[in-house]
Amino acid sequence: MINVVIFGAPGSGKGTQSQLLIKKYGLTHVSTGDILRAEIKAGTELGKLADSYMSKGHLLPDEVVIEILDELIRRHSDAKGFIFDGFPRTLAQGAELDKMLSGNDTQISLVISLEVSDAELIDRLLKRGQISGRSDDNRETIESRLKVYYSQTSPLKEFYAKQGKLKIIEGVGTVEDIFKSIEKELDKEF
Ligand code: AP5
Ligand code: MG
Repeated sequence: MINVVIFGAPGSGKGTQSQLLIKKYGLTHVSTGDILRAEIKAGTELGKLADSYMSKGHLLPDEVVIEILDELIRRHSDAKGFIFDGFPRTLAQGAELDKMLSGNDTQISLVISLEVSDAELIDRLLKRGQISGRSDDNRETIESRLKVYYSQTSPLKEFYAKQGKLKIIEGVGTVEDIFKSIEKELDKEF
């Protein structure tokens, strides 16, 4: 199994690059954000809970997202591998993911961190906000998402660097050129 974490701040291109990765490598895409947005749309209890955090740009409690992931990994035990997009987002989630994968005799193969300046991130998300209908694509919530990223999520870079798995990729330029840089790293794993 090849398991890739696609890592980066809000708007860094995780979802965009994941789509290209799925096509080329046939991995199963796991986006906690997409799962939660689907729950909101369906009006479930989980969706109501998720909306109260997401619209403010805050993270959901670790145990809630870990339970979602645990169930999903079990359900897709025959997958060729996973692309984790938007998970893990805290050190506790990172430690749990390692445990869940080792329980299935597998592990994270590599972590691609997309690096983009704050100015560019804000610009991309404000632009998307004009059409996306995402309740978190407004200036106030974007600023909160960035703060949360730097305080709670970015420490995972050190966590994965220590495991020798972190690959830093410049996330600015055309989508195709960024994908080429990611391919170079991934092709070493296949
Ligand atoms: P989530 O859905 O994961 O959102 P996010 O991390 O804030 O990031 P985005 O999806 O906005 O950006 P992206 O990096 O995917 O970039 P994209 O490709 O879309 O999480 C949302 C919320 O859910 C969280 O705030 C939290 O509340 C909750 N949540 C989710 N996971 C959780 C977890 N594990 N624990 C707790 N809570 C959790 O691109 C962005 C824009 O830029 C697009 O318009 C795109 O077209 C454009 N773009 C992409 N690439 C380029 C490029 N190279 N040049 C120019 N524009 C580009
Ligand atoms: Mg995304």
